[in-house]
Amino acid sequence: MADIEMSINLSKTGRRLLKFFYFAFLLIVSISNYSCQQVQSKNNDIESKVTSLLSKMTLEEKIGQMTQIDPIAMSADQINKAVRNGNYGSFLNVSGVEKINALQKLAMEESRLKIPLIIGRDVIHGYRTIFPIPLAMASTWNPEIVKKAFRISSIEASSQGIKWTFAPMIDITWDPRWGRIAEGCGEDPYLASAFAKAMVEGIQGEQLTDPKAVAACAKHFVGYGFAEGGRDYNTTYISEPMLRNVVLKPFKAAKDAGALTFMSAFNDLNGVPTSGNEFTLRQVLRKEWKYDGMVVSDWGSIAEMISHGYCADEKEAALKAITAGVDMEMSGTTYLKNLKTLINEGKVDLAMIDEAVKNILTLKFKLGLFENPYVNPEAEKQMLSPEFLDHARIVARQSTVMLKNDPNTLPLSARISSVAVIGPLADAPRDQLGTWVFDGKAENSVTPLTAIKAVLGNPKVNFAAGLKYSRDKSKSGFAEAIAAAKKSQAILFFAGEEWILSGEGQSRGEINLPGVQEELIEALSKTGKPLIVVVMAGRPLAIGKVVEKSNALLYAWHGGSMAGPALADLIFGKESPSGKLPVTFVKGSGQIPFYYYHNMTGRPANAKSWTPIDSIPVINSQASLGYKSFHLDYGFTPLFPFGYGLSYTTFKYSDLKLSSTEMSKNGNLTVKASILNAGNVDADEIVQLYIRDRVGSITRPVKELKGFKRIHLKSRETVGVTFELPASSLEFFNGKGNVIEPGEFDVWIGPNSDEGLHGEFAIKN
Ligand code: BGC
Repeated sequence: MADIEMSINLSKTGRRLLKFFYFAFLLIVSISNYSCQQVQSKNNDIESKVTSLLSKMTLEEKIGQMTQIDPIAMSADQINKAVRNGNYGSFLNVSGVEKINALQKLAMEESRLKIPLIIGRDVIHGYRTIFPIPLAMASTWNPEIVKKAFRISSIEASSQGIKWTFAPMIDITWDPRWGRIAEGCGEDPYLASAFAKAMVEGIQGEQLTDPKAVAACAKHFVGYGFAEGGRDYNTTYISEPMLRNVVLKPFKAAKDAGALTFMSAFNDLNGVPTSGNEFTLRQVLRKEWKYDGMVVSDWGSIAEMISHGYCADEKEAALKAITAGVDMEMSGTTYLKNLKTLINEGKVDLAMIDEAVKNILTLKFKLGLFENPYVNPEAEKQMLSPEFLDHARIVARQSTVMLKNDPNTLPLSARISSVAVIGPLADAPRDQLGTWVFDGKAENSVTPLTAIKAVLGNPKVNFAAGLKYSRDKSKSGFAEAIAAAKKSQAILFFAGEEWILSGEGQSRGEINLPGVQEELIEALSKTGKPLIVVVMAGRPLAIGKVVEKSNALLYAWHGGSMAGPALADLIFGKESPSGKLPVTFVKGSGQIPFYYYHNMTGRPANAKSWTPIDSIPVINSQASLGYKSFHLDYGFTPLFPFGYGLSYTTFKYSDLKLSSTEMSKNGNLTVKASILNAGNVDADEIVQLYIRDRVGSITRPVKELKGFKRIHLKSRETVGVTFELPASSLEFFNGKGNVIEPGEFDVWIGPNSDEGLHGEFAIKN
């Protein structure tokens, strides 16, 4: 009735407008239908090309496609012959435009079926323009700028003929001893999923056939970050709820973002190596997620199933890997040597081989390699462009987390009369690039020392490294460093780890500052000068003592090519620090694992129940020790919680509002709060939304991140932040299936995982 009245009352212009919107709507619908049809017809087109090519291939050619090698040990003649014969479908670690073009020419002109090669390489956080390590990028809580960083990496890498990168690495880990923590996005599945999506989209770009597109590879599938004891390559045991609720989450996000490839891992998971794991590769990835991309093994990981004690020999390893669904073997010859026999013996069905080859050829078609396998030599001119370097500076700035700032310590005035620049990382151009840098060059790094000199001018900077490198144990440079500090108004100490102390195979038992850095920091603190410590490392270090001795502390990770200027921007207040921790900082290795979303125990500790070790009387009664979940020496809290980070301003949170106090299982809740920038400088704040499911059919985490927003607030400005919290986001796997359970929930909006405004709501049946 109301509708009829409205149409009667509509004026002529109103009717015209309505007509216009109606036709515009029809147009949009038909355009989107048209583009869906186009994608569909392109896919059909690729499918028929693949089928036709497959029908012409010999078994040897098929197995060749399923093999990827690093030709480092091969002569040029051997390589050329192998390409002509179609022995390999892919190379990794071949570089140089001319070389790659020549190899493609051989494949396209002299091999029987003219199938292009696909060249892969680890481009993990930049190709020539090096961005901060991925863990640092996750500290930005800014997927948009990270997406652009990965786009830039792909533009540079593809200009060199690299069409496939082994990134993103999206292994969740709780263990800072594990060197590869540097390569991932930290401990949280929600945050890591947001970055997984951004990274895949950045790497692949908008159009896969664009010469600047590169195939992404979600790795390592799966569970590798749970290596026991943080020792790389170690065994992993992960319950199915933890696997599905945490570890698999970023991989699902990568799959949904269209990741063209996945990589199996080195670890065994609950007793089954992941490169031969039918449950993860076939059941979860292919069957449940309907993934139709390509799976590559990790380097030599098929043959390593023999060392795992899971296969007796390479033949059995090849059988288990192909049965599990590994399409391509990286750096190994178990497929090359055994698949044919396995087929002849009837142990492997030809259909399985065809499926793998189909996935590989589809990838090559999707990337447009058949039409255009060559690299345009002109493309590399963009390398290290000012725009790219500028972006690296922005990312490095936003990834730096301020963990302490005594009033008036930071920022320093650019008019300060002198500063002492000290520490092994102050002028270490290679170290600041971090791990996994094959193509970045130390000579393109701008170090903190150079950048600070550029701001203040040489004469005001008293530089004395004090230590030659992070592990240096010689104190011979201490006197000079202390003298430099004494004649300066403030001390900037650049501490940390050399790049080689984190990354693959670089696990540490103790995660303190290496060498005698702490001793030098302590000596410098005695000068009474304001002491600002900047930590440049590949992992969250146990820096409790350094925090105590310093007046301000910036955690800058390994910040890449532009770490120096980015840090100078923050130190001299051009911009306020805004990064937040993507991982919990522990007080010492003994606290590991410590992650914010642990389940509630039967005996949660609090300040009253903790008995510090030194307060225990020598003769004590059994009953006075608290009997709660804590360490006598560390207590029950971490050094810094997940999500933590300070700013040059203060933010005040108020007015938490929920659209309702209850919702149904398919409902949605809106949660809002107001944030005031109560200080004098404009700054970014990362607003975080957490929930807790109070009672579940299995015990539930004490908190879970379900949303975040980076917002910019001018001084004294108040901004309202709104989060949508659909009931579907509260779903979890309880060991039997995915459930959204009715009951009461807590919700917080706050600046980190430890603080925030609190509300409550319920899910009704
Ligand atoms: C690593 C992978 C990497 C591969 C190729 C392996 O050792 O685990 O992450 O992509 O090497 O370099």
